[in-house]
Amino acid sequence: MLLQGLRSGSGRHGSFKGVNAGKRNISWLQRHARSIIYTILLVGFLCGLDSLLYSVLDGKMLHKSTITDQEAGTEQRVVEGKEGIKMYGRLLNLAMKSLSETEYEGHASKFLQDFNPQASMWRPCADKKTKSKGKSKNSSGFIVVSANGGLNQQRVAICNAVAVASLLNATLVIPRFLYSNVWNDPSQFSDIYQEDYFINMLKNDVPIVKELPSRFNLKDLEAIGSLVTDADIPKEATPRDYITKVLPILLQNGVVHFLGFGNRLGFDPMPIELQSLRCKCNFHALKFVPRIQKIASLLLSRIRGNGTKRSMLEEQLLGNFTSPSSTASLQESHTSQGPAQYLALHLRFEIDMVAYSMCEFGGGEVERRELQAYREAHFPLSVKRLKDNSQHLSPTDLRQTGKCPMTPEETALLLSALRFKRNTYIYLAGSHIYGGESRMLPLTTLYPNLVTKEDLLSPKELAPLKNFSSQLAAVDFIMCATADIFAITDSGSQLSSLVSGFRTYYGNGRAPSLRPNHKKLAEILLQNRTMGWKKFEDKIKRMVDEGQKVRLRGHGQSLYRLPRSKGCMCKHH
Ligand SMILES: *[C@@H]1O[C@H](CO)[C@@H](O)[C@H](O)[C@H]1NC(C)=O
Ligand SMILES: *[C@@H]1O[C@H](CO)[C@@H](O)[C@H](O)[C@H]1NC(C)=O
Ligand SMILES: *[C@@H]1O[C@H](CO)[C@@H](O)[C@H](O)[C@H]1NC(C)=O
Ligand SMILES: *[C@@H]1O[C@H](CO)[C@@H](O)[C@H](O)[C@H]1NC(C)=O
Ligand SMILES: *[C@@H]1O[C@H](CO)[C@@H](O)[C@H](O)[C@H]1NC(C)=O
Ligand SMILES: *[C@@H]1O[C@H](CO)[C@@H](O)[C@H](O)[C@H]1NC(C)=O
Repeated sequence: MLLQGLRSGSGRHGSFKGVNAGKRNISWLQRHARSIIYTILLVGFLCGLDSLLYSVLDGKMLHKSTITDQEAGTEQRVVEGKEGIKMYGRLLNLAMKSLSETEYEGHASKFLQDFNPQASMWRPCADKKTKSKGKSKNSSGFIVVSANGGLNQQRVAICNAVAVASLLNATLVIPRFLYSNVWNDPSQFSDIYQEDYFINMLKNDVPIVKELPSRFNLKDLEAIGSLVTDADIPKEATPRDYITKVLPILLQNGVVHFLGFGNRLGFDPMPIELQSLRCKCNFHALKFVPRIQKIASLLLSRIRGNGTKRSMLEEQLLGNFTSPSSTASLQESHTSQGPAQYLALHLRFEIDMVAYSMCEFGGGEVERRELQAYREAHFPLSVKRLKDNSQHLSPTDLRQTGKCPMTPEETALLLSALRFKRNTYIYLAGSHIYGGESRMLPLTTLYPNLVTKEDLLSPKELAPLKNFSSQLAAVDFIMCATADIFAITDSGSQLSSLVSGFRTYYGNGRAPSLRPNHKKLAEILLQNRTMGWKKFEDKIKRMVDEGQKVRLRGHGQSLYRLPRSKGCMCKHH
């Protein structure tokens, strides 16, 4: 009750009338009931009831005191007791002060208004070229692909499979998605992408069929030697590898099944027509199904308001869905004119990532035990490897070299140093932030207009996608891709890589993706106790600006992330 009361009191959604903060808190509590109880028990056991009460209160007290600067004495004690959860109390206070100062013109508006003339010279052009030999030639057999991983990994696998099928003159069967208990989602291709559109878009390049002809039985393929697993192909396989290893099987048996097909196609050297095809597949052939487009479009209208002119990005991603009339858009509760702009974040500060990093996040002994328990349960191999290897980096070393996932707190500091206004709308992709609301507090305190899809949609509206993590991820993909600004706060996930590629391809130089350099950020934050706010701002701005240069794809780099590359985008003068 105490927790819930405090949370409702935070009023972080006060400015948005469409959100029922109370409801959200209850469902949050339900979802996390077990971990809350577990944490409370553990803390209680360790520290006794006294310090339990302090630590529950402290987070909020600190939060309050940063706003009102009241009760300095209490704050002092609080900071000591709660050193953990906030790692940069001093900088956060400076950020809060800076954000609440009046006229706030700055660096952020540069990202929102400017467009990069150099970047806008590059235009999409992968759909212009077709081999148009697909129809005339004889198929060498069928390629079946069972892709593993989540939504974005599967996307990469699909387009690499298209390229392999083209290379081997084969017929591609619509890729299948392996069920994994990490993603917990039985969705198949047609649940996520428009199947006929995909087939049609690529018809001049690769013949694609929906089913493997019935004369083949998928279960028998292993026996006849047509099963190819990741162990059979090198990680960065070249076209040559496929021709020497896979083509003979294909010609002999008429079919090959790639099981667990991941990112098994190297980037270079690769013939330009194959690159072009991968690009066409990723940027033109894969359209989300109307059900997903519709929900994303509803979300977008809730943020941007009604009747917003659509960008090329939105046209590509939302298909025929125009923003439906919305009765509860953020914009209506916002006084300014024009469509509301928003920034999208993918924090990826989830327990698997946090535990896997082997870093510490200032949560003290409780956090250390919790993460260690998670590692032992989920990554027993890396725990063992760590024990055997005495040379491994300490959590401090990891942090100082920028190898730790960015926390919500660090994100808050980054955004405020870039002078994003306090009322900026932030769409938070993903979910289940490790540590929940208490971890999010530094960010939501500085940026109260932070929303998730669960905030903006009613349970009924979200119901069709509920239980399907890949379909929810597809909505996040669209929301990140169409945002005015996309801040890449994860450490190079497949989502941020694909989304920033999309923003480059269709953004016409007006869709910046901010990519903080984790190593430089760590260096800057090392001086968190001493650096003045102005200097902190300058250093952060410089770091982010360096990541904003127009980059062409270099040797060995991903075409999906950096599409400015021959055969994919064309330069106009
Ligand atoms: C396709 O196969 C048929 C019969 O197997 C053959 O007659 C024809 O020449 C082949 N066409 C091409 C383009 O290879
Ligand atoms: C695919 O077909 C083209 C044209 O018909 C041919 O030149 C090429 O050698 C074939 N590739 C393979 C791997 O069979
Ligand atoms: C979208 O609209 C166009 C033209 O209005 C139509 O040809 C197309 O079939 C529509 N697509 C979908 C997916 O409804
Ligand atoms: C949204 O736009 C539609 C037509 O463009 C209009 O009929 C509707 O009243 C608008 N809704 C709001 C809330 O402004
Ligand atoms: C989602 O899963 C839960 C539990 O597995 C089930 O009770 C619920 O009916 C499912 N909801 C939908 C919309 O399928
Ligand atoms: C904050 O600054 C202190 C003192 O300079 C340093 O020891 C600490 O590592 C810094 N914290 C982080 C997370 O970098």
